[in-house]
Amino acid sequence: MNLARFARRRYTAGPTPIERLDRLTELLGGPTIYVKRDDLLGLAGGGNKTRKLEFLVADALAQGADTLITCGAVQSNHCRLTLAAAIREGLRCRLVLEQRVPNSYDRDASGNNFLFRLLGVEQVRVVEGGADLDAVMSGMAEELEADGRKAYVIPGGGSIPLGALGYVACGQEILQQAFELGLRVDHIVCASGSGGTHAGLVAGMLGMGAGIPVTGVSVRHPRDRQEAWIQELAGGTAELVGVRAGIPDDAVTVFDDYVGPGYSLPTDEMVQAVRTLARIEGLLLDPVYTGKAMAGLIDLARKGYCRAGENVLFLHTGGSPALYAYQSALLA
Ligand SMILES: Cc1ncc(COP(=O)(O)O)c(C=O)c1O
Repeated sequence: MNLARFARRRYTAGPTPIERLDRLTELLGGPTIYVKRDDLLGLAGGGNKTRKLEFLVADALAQGADTLITCGAVQSNHCRLTLAAAIREGLRCRLVLEQRVPNSYDRDASGNNFLFRLLGVEQVRVVEGGADLDAVMSGMAEELEADGRKAYVIPGGGSIPLGALGYVACGQEILQQAFELGLRVDHIVCASGSGGTHAGLVAGMLGMGAGIPVTGVSVRHPRDRQEAWIQELAGGTAELVGVRAGIPDDAVTVFDDYVGPGYSLPTDEMVQAVRTLARIEGLLLDPVYTGKAMAGLIDLARKGYCRAGENVLFLHTGGSPALYAYQSALLA
């Protein structure tokens, strides 16, 4: 796979570290747990969207855009990072925020919402859960066009094949690092939301013949729906990078047991995972994605799905700015 064929902006100086979590490993008494610190990626506050935006924003610039438009939930990390990338490039940014939980938008909320305002978002439009986000964003792009401006619309989470290239690149980075560290990675576990992260890793690992399974922990959708979507997006991503073999069914695994009552709603296991990682590893997870993904990893390790003797790499996709909007749930 030759990713240098694609235009790319750079927002992170070098590879993110892979660290061994000794205390968590000891606590679980099973597999050895490592973490890939994508929470340390560049742009304001880091996190997985930075890798996707390197390719998406390069495309926006090539198309002569002056404004980025994207969408997400009311505490969207993706919106924060798209806004930060826009600023870095001298572009403007408009956001569509979906109230996936009814009445969840609060103009004065903390966390990412505060950062949207601090970073100087040009416009925020709040819509009800289930709204046609693509249609709302196209409407905004048309309004800008009528004013002589040019918008570039980034679909939710940047989860289209071009964005997922960021996680094909991450897969390449992981293999190179593992080689240098002399580390045999047996398994990768990540949060699976809009899917670009999971799908990009699946496509990348297959394209490189790595033989490393990637397990996604759903943060929103039921297993069947999420697996079908990851399959489709990984297929599109593989095609984009010229990997001819399709994505076999068994390359895509999603667990939906850790979503709880719904997207972004706290679960006891998430709270436990966020507190545990903070208190024994000094590592900040987030309440919506990595907290639930870590709850999944802890449970899967305890159940023997990830076995003793295996090296499991947990992908820390970031999100800690959202912690500040969940203080009462996390310290209750
Ligand atoms: C912190 C964090 N982790 C994981 C994810 C899920 O990544 P993806 O949308 O690529 O599935 C997101 C998505 O917004 C996120 O913000």
